[in-house]
Amino acid sequence: MASFISILLFLFIVVGGITPAVSQPSDPSEPMCYDWGESSDASVSVMEGEAGWLSCPLFSHPSVYNYSSTQSAGHNLFWYRLPEGHDLEQPISLMRFSSCSSQLSRDRDRLWLQPAAAADTGLYICMLRNKSSCSKISMRLKVLRPDDVVRATDCDPPVAVAASQVVVPLQEGGLLDCPHLQDAAKMADSEPTVTWHRVIHTGKRCEQDPFWKKDREQRGSSLQVHRMMDSYKGLYFCRVQYQRRGRSLNFTRSVNVTTVYPSHLPKEPSVLQPARDQVFTVRRDMEVLLVCRGLFPYLDSPWDIWWTVDGKTPDQLQDRHRFSTKNRLVKDDYGDRTEESTLVIQDFQSEDLNREFNCSVRNGRGSDTRRAQLKEEGEEVSLPSVELGCGLGVTLVLMLLLFVVYHVFWLELLLLYRSWFGTDERDTDDKEYDVYISYARSSEEEQFVWSTLCSVLEEELGYSVCIFERDSLPGGTVADDTLNCVARSRRLLVVVSPDYASQGSQALLELKAGIDIMARGGSLRVILVQYKPVRIQGWVRDLRRARVALVLVRWQGDKSRELTSRFWKRLRVELPVRRVSSREEGWRSSKEVALMRLQSESSTKSQTGLISNTVKDPQTVFRCAA
Ligand SMILES: *[C@@H]1O[C@H](CO)[C@@H](O)[C@H](O)[C@H]1NC(C)=O
Ligand SMILES: *[C@@H]1O[C@H](CO)[C@@H](O)[C@H](O)[C@H]1NC(C)=O
Ligand SMILES: *[C@@H]1O[C@H](CO)[C@@H](O)[C@H](O)[C@H]1NC(C)=O
Ligand SMILES: *[C@@H]1O[C@H](CO)[C@@H](O)[C@H](O)[C@H]1NC(C)=O
Ligand SMILES: *[C@@H]1O[C@H](CO)[C@@H](O)[C@H](O)[C@H]1NC(C)=O
Repeated sequence: MASFISILLFLFIVVGGITPAVSQPSDPSEPMCYDWGESSDASVSVMEGEAGWLSCPLFSHPSVYNYSSTQSAGHNLFWYRLPEGHDLEQPISLMRFSSCSSQLSRDRDRLWLQPAAAADTGLYICMLRNKSSCSKISMRLKVLRPDDVVRATDCDPPVAVAASQVVVPLQEGGLLDCPHLQDAAKMADSEPTVTWHRVIHTGKRCEQDPFWKKDREQRGSSLQVHRMMDSYKGLYFCRVQYQRRGRSLNFTRSVNVTTVYPSHLPKEPSVLQPARDQVFTVRRDMEVLLVCRGLFPYLDSPWDIWWTVDGKTPDQLQDRHRFSTKNRLVKDDYGDRTEESTLVIQDFQSEDLNREFNCSVRNGRGSDTRRAQLKEEGEEVSLPSVELGCGLGVTLVLMLLLFVVYHVFWLELLLLYRSWFGTDERDTDDKEYDVYISYARSSEEEQFVWSTLCSVLEEELGYSVCIFERDSLPGGTVADDTLNCVARSRRLLVVVSPDYASQGSQALLELKAGIDIMARGGSLRVILVQYKPVRIQGWVRDLRRARVALVLVRWQGDKSRELTSRFWKRLRVELPVRRVSSREEGWRSSKEVALMRLQSESSTKSQTGLISNTVKDPQTVFRCAA
């Protein structure tokens, strides 16, 4: 009786918790029958026209309920059928060795369909009965047409049964056996024949995999893979054909071949994350996630990844409600699995910091454990430090930007500033000239002074220029006149060149006068324009002494000819402010309009608009060059 109860219990579990319905027998001499309902696991699909079978689900665990022992206990197995659309069970009358014409036949606990016909679809019931006890269970059979089968492409033959999985490591050999071949062999009159094939889908065409002998070949009923390649993975089909009672029968099965890394590679699992030096930053009263990743090289054995807290799994803890774990597969690379286990800790407490959080991995070859290092985030310190860091970073970037802008555009900025805020010296003094030009009277310098310096200053930039040879009043002594002229100018422009000292006293006189007035605070500034490079030793003594305190603007040949060049900007910064908006009338204001036009022209003409080309008024040139 105890064994009967255990059988009942077992069935209760196996069939999935279906409560047996006790059907009252019509014949009082017959025992009550326990109906276990429909077994969902046992449903069977068969292709129409192919051979197939049903196994009574009562015997799915033979160690508990085995066919031979029930037979010896005087049980009989009966099959019933409930065709689709019917509600009356029909007994299937079968003899152990049924006639040739019958397509249904029984072999021990199996009901064979050789072959299956579309009309066979329906519910099948197997009943195990002796005089005093009875149990029955039902299962569903589906006979499929090719259109009912989901296939990757039309190239694949329809297969009613899910593909079996075979793993062959790369570069290694493997043997593919056709599933259910042995079942057919039991029913066949002679040895079944098996044909293997594989379809390669090339665009719209279906091609047979030629199975080059080198790597793969059919050996007997199996397909032998000598050396596995990545391209060999996929679905393989085998067709089993056999003869039974003069009838030719067949069925097709598929094998899904996958490949993994070779078996000689190391197979020990390892903890990838947390890394050895990784520190998890945690915050009190917050949810904390500790992520562990383990690498499990392909191995046909169970594996596991788990967290422990002080050596206990989270559900062994006193405060287990605060802990939970989530596992997922991250990557499957040729069978090498990267698995992730996340330990979620609610309301992280400060005493949790002292606990030992370990992540462990294990498979059939070994194990690995890594402790997670935790560090509390100093809220008061780190949050402002982040903001401070950001602020500092932004400030630094801005400063750098300003620095760069200033260094590239400082002359322009200075000129702009002066044009807005600079005071016009003409309002505050009673000087006659803006610029007095002092230069060595050699032909080259003269050329530069007259045709470039003077003409641009006067005509383009609107300054009034005093040149001794042109502007001194006739009749006086040279020395007096020079002093006079220099004193009536706001700037003394000294054109420094190798000839400056050697070429006579006029230039030196001008320089002395200028430096004297400047030293006496007499509203005159001396500017040095270096026309040609001069070694400092070659300079006259006064110049050498003055050089330290004076501004030097270098003429750089053709590069400096353009009005937008550095030379002119630099010079304009040193010269008195000339605002574009002019208060003066007459030729000066028209000159300024011309200047504005010229400036915009020269800037649009970019590098080509040289000053010498833009000076078009021949009279201007004449006046300066006179
Ligand atoms: C398999 O059996 C069915 C039904 O008997 C038949 O129509 C079909 O031709 C057979 N296939 C092969 C390849 O023999
Ligand atoms: C079934 O029972 C018989 C005897 O009753 C025993 O010899 C056999 O090993 C059992 N089969 C299985 C699979 O347990
Ligand atoms: C019927 O089977 C049950 C359990 O398998 C067994 O206990 C009982 O003795 C059998 N009854 C007869 C009459 O053989
Ligand atoms: C073969 O098996 C692999 C791994 O289980 C699976 O990803 C793939 O989809 C299967 N292919 C087919 C055609 O069933
Ligand atoms: C936790 O892991 C470390 C190594 O990372 C190990 O030394 C320690 O013994 C482990 N603790 C437990 C309880 O397993």
